[in-house]
Amino acid sequence: MSKKILLSGVKPTGRPHIGNYFGAMKQFVDMQNDYDSMFFIADYHALNFIQDGGEMKQQILDLMMDYLAIGLDPKKSLIYKQSDIPEHTELTWIFDTITTMPYLQRAHAYKDAEAKDKEISVGTFNYPMLMAADILMYDADVVPVGQDQKQHVEYARDTAQKFNFTFKNEVFKLPDAKIMEGVAVVPGTDGQKMSKSYGNTIPLFASDEEIEKAVMSIVTDSGSPEEGKLPQNVYNIHKLLKSEDELKSLYDENKGKYKVLKEALIEDLKNFIRPMREKREQLAGDTETVLEILKEGGKRAKAKAEKKMEQVREAIGVKLY
Ligand code: TYM
Repeated sequence: MSKKILLSGVKPTGRPHIGNYFGAMKQFVDMQNDYDSMFFIADYHALNFIQDGGEMKQQILDLMMDYLAIGLDPKKSLIYKQSDIPEHTELTWIFDTITTMPYLQRAHAYKDAEAKDKEISVGTFNYPMLMAADILMYDADVVPVGQDQKQHVEYARDTAQKFNFTFKNEVFKLPDAKIMEGVAVVPGTDGQKMSKSYGNTIPLFASDEEIEKAVMSIVTDSGSPEEGKLPQNVYNIHKLLKSEDELKSLYDENKGKYKVLKEALIEDLKNFIRPMREKREQLAGDTETVLEILKEGGKRAKAKAEKKMEQVREAIGVKLY
């Protein structure tokens, strides 16, 4: 029996943090053996945020090194960048024509931007349709993501159904989001969702000094330790690294001693991050090979996309020869 198809992507908009890792990227590595896996760099999504050619180039290279450093293996997984496959944007246009404005206005990301009185670009508004194209192009069965991307995967499902119904043709498979319990929303140093835009992150490849600084900045919560309450903001990050059983005695013995607990967390984070950071430093010394892997992945993904687009063009009736 052929394996199911797994697909996911990350925006190259800055250093990934441990929320990206535990919420999504760790699953990529864990699952790459069991699925026909595809992981990509969502550079056209990032274009909504990064509008500087030099910076974009660097961010793409950085994310590719991150992917390899966490353990994505190009022998097992297809790794590519979105912009190497222009079929993604072609399919986005086709989806645009069967999608209504009110439907896109219900997207959380759009509503958040609107609530902040931001001037919203057409690209931001249309973000879910490019994401639907990313997913549906390759017949993905499973899409591992954090909670914040769940609605986008649902939009992809709806869009597949709408297309198949409109053109009376089962061209697209319906994908499912895969969200890991316990890490669906990894909290940041202030207890809110860890996010680059909130400035509350612990970078995945942080130096020892950055780890110390980030952990020391964790907001101590008001719960009274004497009543047996845990310092939640410290504990919630700590339990990403160790089981609750392993942490129990440490937290029981050090009730209210925030400094001791933070120091223990710093130690565990350092031990966890160090090997990945070292691997990444090695990769940074050979960017030519890194880019070669990315380029090859792009060619293989493009061949798949070309095939799918033949089916799409046939279904919508623009393929005359
Ligand atoms: P992005 O780049 O914002 O985030 C990458 C992944 O990290 C997850 N994540 C988190 N999970 C748990 N806790 C957190 N604090 C946290 N912060 C981020 C995200 O849910 C995501 O899974 N639109 C996507 C990229 C994308 C994509 C796709 C993903 C484009 N096309 C197709 C899957 C399939 C994004 O901006 O993710």
